[in-house]
Amino acid sequence: MDEFAVEMRDVVKIFPTPEGGEVAAVNHVTLQIKHGEFFSMLGPSGCGKTTSLRMMAGFEWPTEGEIYIDGTAMGRTPPYLRTVNTVFQSYALFQHMSVFQNVAFGLEMEHVPKKEIEHRVRDALEMVKLSGMGRRKPKQLSGGQQQRIALARALVKRPAVLLLDEPLGALDLKLRKEMQLELKALQKEVGITFVYVTHDQEEALTMSDRIAVMSQGKVLQIGTPVEIYERPNCRFVADFIGETNFLKGRVKKTDEDLLTVELLDFPREIKGVGQGNLAVGQEVSISIRPEKVRLEDDINDDTAPYKDSDNLLRGRVLTTAYVGSDTRIIIDIGHNISLIVWEQNHISTLDPQAYYTAEDKVVIHLPFENTLVLPEG
Ligand SMILES: Nc1ncnc2c1ncn2[C@@H]1O[C@H](COP(=O)(O)OP(=O)(O)OP(=O)(O)O)[C@@H](O)[C@H]1O
Ligand SMILES: [Mg+2]
Repeated sequence: MDEFAVEMRDVVKIFPTPEGGEVAAVNHVTLQIKHGEFFSMLGPSGCGKTTSLRMMAGFEWPTEGEIYIDGTAMGRTPPYLRTVNTVFQSYALFQHMSVFQNVAFGLEMEHVPKKEIEHRVRDALEMVKLSGMGRRKPKQLSGGQQQRIALARALVKRPAVLLLDEPLGALDLKLRKEMQLELKALQKEVGITFVYVTHDQEEALTMSDRIAVMSQGKVLQIGTPVEIYERPNCRFVADFIGETNFLKGRVKKTDEDLLTVELLDFPREIKGVGQGNLAVGQEVSISIRPEKVRLEDDINDDTAPYKDSDNLLRGRVLTTAYVGSDTRIIIDIGHNISLIVWEQNHISTLDPQAYYTAEDKVVIHLPFENTLVLPEG
C-alpha cells in the first residue's frame, strides 16, 4: 500500500467557455490524502471543488498534472476501474425499486453472486442504520434516510476511497447536523478514506481530520481544523473560516518574535504573530477573532494615551446582543472602524451591571499571541 490514498500533483483543469474563452477550474493543485483520513475540500462556489473530485473519480481528466490513487498514476483510467466511489448531492435513487434493490443494483451489474449480494447489502444497510427498511421504496423514507441509502449504495462496493460532493446539501439544518456526526462516526468505524466537498465551513471543521481551503482553482492552505482556524495563512482563509476582525496595516519591524505593524487608518502600532514570509513595508491585514479580544471598563481619563506596545485600543459600545453562551458586542473605535467582540458569559447572574450596554466606554486589549498578521492571499 502506498503512503497516500489519493494524490493530486500539480493538477490543472482548463474548460473552454461557451463565450470562446478558457477557465482554469483547477489551477496547479498539489495535495496528498492519507489512508483512513477524513479530508475536506472547502471553498466558495466555483472554486474548483467538484472539478477536483470529478478528476479523482475519473469523470474528468486533468489538462496538466496527474492524479494518483494508492500510488498509481490514473492517466485516463475510467471511473469503473478506480477503487473509488462517489456520492453526489443529488443522490438520484431509483424510485420504483426498493431500498434493498437500490443498494444491490451496482453489485448486480457486476454479476456478483446472489448470496454475496444479500450479505453485502445487509451489511451496508446495517452500517447506515437502515436495517429492516430494505423492502421500502425511497419515497417511504425521510430525507436523511434517503441520503443514507445513497451512502449504502456507495459503501456496498467496498471502495478504498469514498468521494462525497456536498452529500448533505439537500437536508434541513437540524438533520444536516445529525448526519454530520453520524457520517464522521461511520467513517471512523469503516476506516475508508473520505474526500468530502463542502462550502460550509462549520461542517468542514466539525467533520474533518484535515481541510484544504480553496479559492479560484487554487489551494490556499491545508491543515487540521485547529490549524486552519487558529493559524490561517492569509486573509482569505481567516475571513472564510469563522468570524474575525481585520485592521489594515503595513509591516514596520520583523526582527523580533512578534511583528510590528503600523495601521493604515489611524496612527497606531500593533504587534502580532506573523504568518508566512512578510517583509518590511508590505501591506498586511491584522486579524483577531471576536472571542479572543479582551475588554475592560475604561475608567481612566479619556485623553491619556496608551502605549502602542500594549496592543490597547479605546472604544465605545454601539450595540450588544445577549445570545446565552456569550454576549456579542460591536464597538466603535473611531475612524469609521468597528470591532466585534464575543464575551463569554461564564458567570451566571441577573445583574444588568455585569453586562456591557450601548455607550459604555471600553479598553480593548488585543493579546499579542491572538493577534495575527496576514498577507492578502
Ligand atoms: N464542464 C464545464 N465547462 C465549463 N466550465 C466549467 C465546467 N465545470 C465547471 N466549470 C467552471 O469551473 C469552475 C469551477 O467549478 P466547480 O464546479 O469545480 O466549482 P465548485 O467549487 O464545485 O462550486 P460549487 O460550490 O458551486 O459547487 C467554475 O468557474 C465553473 O463555472
Ligand atoms: Mg460543486
